[in-house]
Order: sequence, then C-alpha cells, then structure tokens
Amino acid sequence: MAKKKAEGYLSGREARRIAKENRRITNAFEKQRKRKNVPESEYLTQMADPNNAVEFDNLHTYFYTDAGVVKSVDGVSFEVPIGKTVGVVGESGCGKSVTSLSLMQLLQRPQGQVVEGEIRLNMGDKAYDVTKMPNEQMQKIRGNYVSMIFQEPMTSLNPVFRIGEQVDEVIALHHGEGKTKEDIKARTIQLLEMVGIANSQGVYQMYPHELSGGMRQRVCIAMALACSPKVIIADEPTTALDVTIQAQVLDLLRNLKDKINSSIMFITHDLGVIAEMADYVVVMYAGRVVEKGTVHEIFSNPAHPYTIGLMASKPVVGKQVDKLYSIPGKVPNPIDMPNYCYFKDRCEMCVEGCNGEYPCQVQLSPTHFVSCYRYYDKKNQGGEV
Ligand SMILES: Nc1ncnc2c1ncn2[C@@H]1O[C@H](COP(=O)(O)OP(=O)(O)OP(=O)(O)O)[C@@H](O)[C@H]1O
Ligand SMILES: [Mg+2]
Repeated sequence: MAKKKAEGYLSGREARRIAKENRRITNAFEKQRKRKNVPESEYLTQMADPNNAVEFDNLHTYFYTDAGVVKSVDGVSFEVPIGKTVGVVGESGCGKSVTSLSLMQLLQRPQGQVVEGEIRLNMGDKAYDVTKMPNEQMQKIRGNYVSMIFQEPMTSLNPVFRIGEQVDEVIALHHGEGKTKEDIKARTIQLLEMVGIANSQGVYQMYPHELSGGMRQRVCIAMALACSPKVIIADEPTTALDVTIQAQVLDLLRNLKDKINSSIMFITHDLGVIAEMADYVVVMYAGRVVEKGTVHEIFSNPAHPYTIGLMASKPVVGKQVDKLYSIPGKVPNPIDMPNYCYFKDRCEMCVEGCNGEYPCQVQLSPTHFVSCYRYYDKKNQGGEV
C-alpha cells in the first residue's frame, strides 16, 4: 500500500510508481485475455448445482487506479437459479454494477480486472467459467446467453442511428447467418411489438431523441431480448422512468422472462421493486454479500443490521412517521478497507465479537445466510457454512 501524505494526497513520484506497478499487473491480465484459439478445456467448468443459471463464487474484482487498488467486489458468492429472479440491493458504490459487469466482461479495462474467483455460466450441456474466457469466446456468449439492460436508456442507444438500424444490427450480429435484410427487419418489428410499442413500423424509422424515456427503455429491452438470452441482467432498468411507466416496464420484463424462461439478475435501490419482482434477494455492502435469502426471509426476518436498517428506512403505507430512518455514518474507503466487519463503524447492534476479523457466513435456514457476529451462537463450530 502506498505511503500517503497527511492530507491523503500522493506525491507525484508515488503516483508514478503505483501507475507503473498497475500497468505491469494489468498488462499480464490483458495478455491472457487477448489470446486467440484458446482450447475450451481452459474455461470449461462444472456447476455446483445444475439448477443454477449462474454461480458467482468468491468473486474479486479490483480496479487498479493511480490512487491505489479499489477492491470494488471482494469475495462475492451467490447464485441465480434457472427461471428465477434474484434481486441485488445495496447502497450506491457497493459493487452491484461491477459484479454484473464482471459477468458480462464489460469492466472498464485495463484497470478493471477479475483477480480471483469463478463465475460459472450454465450453457445447458456444459458450464463455462466466464472469468477465464478470452475476448474471442466471450463475444459469442454476450447477447446470446447473457445480456444486459442498462440504467440510462438514452446513453445505451446511439443518437445518430434510427431505432430500426440499431435493433437490426443486434440480430444480424448474433443470428444474422442466412437471413435476408427483410427477415431481420421482420424480426425487429416483432420484437418492438413484443415489448409493447404500438406504432412499431413508425418507431423503426425514428431516432432515439424522438421517443420518450419509457419507449427508449422498451427498445433497450427489445435489444437485450433479441437473442432470447438465458440470463438477463437488469441494472436499475426503471430508475430513469416515472412510476406508472416503471410499473409497465416491470410487468413487461416479468412476462417476457416467463415467455423465454430465462433468469433475471435485478439490480436496484428500490426495495418495493425487489418485493414485487424477486424470488431471492442478495444484500451487498462495501463489495461483499452481507446477507442473502428468499424474498420472504429478507423482508419478514432481516438478520444483518444493514438489512434491518434498509427495511426501517423504507416508507410503509398506513404507518405514520415523522422522519424516515437513515443509517448513520458512511461506507469505508474502498482503497483502505478495515480488517474487521465493514459495517461495524455504523452498526448500532454491535456485540462482543465484532472487534474480531470480518465475520464469516452463518446459515440461518437452508436458503438464508448472514455475515454477522450476532448469529455466531447459531453457527455450528467449524468455520464457514
Ligand atoms: N472504472 C472504475 N474505476 C475505478 N473505480 C471504479 C470504476 N467503476 C467502479 N468503481 C468503483 O467500484 C465501486 C463499486 O461501484 P459500482 O458501480 O459497482 O457501484 P453500484 O453498487 O452499482 O452503485 P450504484 O447503485 O450507484 O449504481 C465504487 O467504489 C466505484 O467507485
Ligand atoms: Mg450501479
């Protein structure tokens, strides 16, 4: 770790040293990724449970910045079962997007790198470890097996191309072989109709700025679903929309998911959306999973003080409060994480053990896990469960 001056600034010399060291590390990762004709055996793996579509296993994703190494995702494990929706919640900057971008291999490179862990993707008859896949192979997976709906529809569409051209391009790229232009256009129109755009022929000819936010997001959903992916990542897909459109888009997503029987990893800040959409919930805090369980377990029996705080900070219909609860304090600096529980400095429920190292996972039910010292008496002796 670099030595810092009292004010927290690095000297020029120190920054140059870090930059050089970072380049050395990231170049090695990049070289690995850019290889051609890599044998499949290198990234072939086995699912721990064949009923899962994706398994994140001890994922570590770091950013090698000039100020130091940002440990954005630091040992995340959870799974997305086939045909289910998993909601990922947590406050801004806790690593939700970085986790999903690691699965898509869309991290900002070269500084963003998966340094440890596996992301197992179920391909039906086999499984791939996405973290070990070279760029060449990843290109074939993206869109076909995993696709992503981004938060801001305006920035995910290209402003200088017509909607039709943009959706056509996705289809041509992934399923274009042997198809004529007319075939592709017909499929685009069909997709636009599927996502509830009434004037599909008209919208085909329009530019993104001619559409409303809700319609743009529908177009993005159409593009993401163009190749019937097995896993859909929705990264706050409705944050930029107003509530009524939000409800429509959520309905749409749910129906489409059932139609193509895929799994959704749903990232959001909005607990109401989670309650409505998700089967399972993963609660992240400062780059780690602090609690996970079924939606019922997390909502009716939250265990981690952070989850309890989140639940207390949401408004409840019919309940009169003067002021909504807010969790005190702030998240620790991701460059300099403490070696004890990351939530300890903000926690109002600390127990004796909390001074120890980062707590390991305690199993509360077959599906409910929490990383907190308050439940250590429930833990069978013998470390991680
Ligand atoms: N390109 C990058 N370079 C350096 N650090 C980054 C980069 N991208 C993300 N980070 C850091 O990684 C951490 C996790 O970011 P991430 O975008 O995953 O948060 P998030 O949970 O999705 O937050 P939000 O809810 O605001 O979208 C943050 O501390 C962020 O500063
Ligand atoms: Mg995000």
